[in-house]
Amino acid sequence: MAIRDILIIPEKKLRLKSELVKTIDKPLRALVDDMFATMYEAPGIGLAAIQIGEPLRLITMDVAGKEEPKDPRVFINPEIVWSSDDTSTYEEGCLSIPEYYEEVVRPASIKVKFLDIDGKEQELTAEGLLSTCLQHEIDHLNGVLFIDHISKLKRDMVMKKFKKAAKKSGGDLANDKEPSHHIG
Ligand code: NI
Repeated sequence: MAIRDILIIPEKKLRLKSELVKTIDKPLRALVDDMFATMYEAPGIGLAAIQIGEPLRLITMDVAGKEEPKDPRVFINPEIVWSSDDTSTYEEGCLSIPEYYEEVVRPASIKVKFLDIDGKEQELTAEGLLSTCLQHEIDHLNGVLFIDHISKLKRDMVMKKFKKAAKKSGGDLANDKEPSHHIG
């Protein structure tokens, strides 16, 4: 188990469309372990494999509150099969866009089909933070970032800021540890 580096914008890999997971084998389980270690260390409540440079349709998540016991979840090849018409607004952040938060409007509830770590088909209806987080992470699998859901003006501003920072640090911008509402 290893803590891996999290890719930060404007890293181009974050815009890749991730591939379906074909086999759930030992290397994949090791990757899942790395993702949990990286996600908990960050700390974040969700992580898509592409955020550590692996273009696979694989997500780790734990939306349990600080006082609650850990609730690690793995979503393999997740697919949104239904979204509600009613929406909810949540101030999102992303481990790949450190220290930037903006309100995003998304469907309030969704139904997701996915494989669990044993390769078993599962279906889940999610609402609240779980729904928001799942939509945010599934976006990552399609190369979409939460800033794509905000105004172009705001997006251009944040991209410009991170491009400048990447240039300054030679592309090696360290992750920030502190905020609690980094979604992933
Ligand atoms: Ni994210």
